[in-house]
Amino acid sequence: MYNMILIDGKATAQAIRNELKEKVQQLESSGKVPGLVTIIVGDNPASQLYVNMKSKACIEIGMKSKIERLDESITEEELLRLVERYNNDNDYHGILVQLPIPKHINEDKVIETISVLKDVDGFHPVSTGNLMIGKETFFPCTPYGIVELLKRYNIETKGKHVVVVGRSNIVGKPIANMMLQKKEHANSIVTVCHSAAEDLSQYTRQADILIAAIGRANFINADMVKDGVVVIDVGINRIDDADAPKGFRVVGDVDFENVSKKASHITPVPKGVGPMTIAMLLVNTYEAFTKIEKIS
Ligand code: GUN
Repeated sequence: MYNMILIDGKATAQAIRNELKEKVQQLESSGKVPGLVTIIVGDNPASQLYVNMKSKACIEIGMKSKIERLDESITEEELLRLVERYNNDNDYHGILVQLPIPKHINEDKVIETISVLKDVDGFHPVSTGNLMIGKETFFPCTPYGIVELLKRYNIETKGKHVVVVGRSNIVGKPIANMMLQKKEHANSIVTVCHSAAEDLSQYTRQADILIAAIGRANFINADMVKDGVVVIDVGINRIDDADAPKGFRVVGDVDFENVSKKASHITPVPKGVGPMTIAMLLVNTYEAFTKIEKIS
């Protein structure tokens, strides 16, 4: 039985936001602050919520924020022109197009149109390529948040076996590449596994650090992990719960109640990885600002 440590993503995210707020305050004398523009197309309620949270977080720490709300009927050409306009707008150092976007618009084209210098989501193929070859780049916010949690909780990663479950472009692939880097807070042995595996537990049981990004509620059970594992749960799944005020409850990809009994460290859901995503978006926007404005 381990003295399990709960990894508090909410408190860590708040600490990062406080640190950034101070940095932004120090910029005030220069008369310029970092700016983030968020572009949202259509009225997906979850996307609206996320975009509002991102904007509020910017304003709270003294950054400039703008939300461009576009109608579902906007053409691809119009959206691309808008992105280009912000590529050339000196008040905005970060550009984020909230996904998903309507099917009549080519998502790849939109992402590729964002200036690499302002790609605070880290989704541009050049950013992705730079990550893969270990060059300086913007890291996608959720995996960046995971690395930051491991770092701030002093979890050894060098030579440890990190098993990633899930292969998405937003989480699975980038976190695998980040943990593989030959540098501090990485330098891990990395396995990526996914739904095509006949028996996923064969892989997950080997993990010193298990990163679950599958999108299936409570999927990782106690039999699938070894004693002392560090568990990072990226899942955000709604399950019906008649007792909950809204009729549902949000759970991760990990059966927290049982897995936590075997873990040395574990992130809860909510208040685990989730809040870190926005904190790291602010970090990326601040970094974009310092590079564009040549502030060290
Ligand atoms: N949709 C869900 N997550 C994300 C994200 O991290 N960035 C963007 N742009 N869209 C998303």
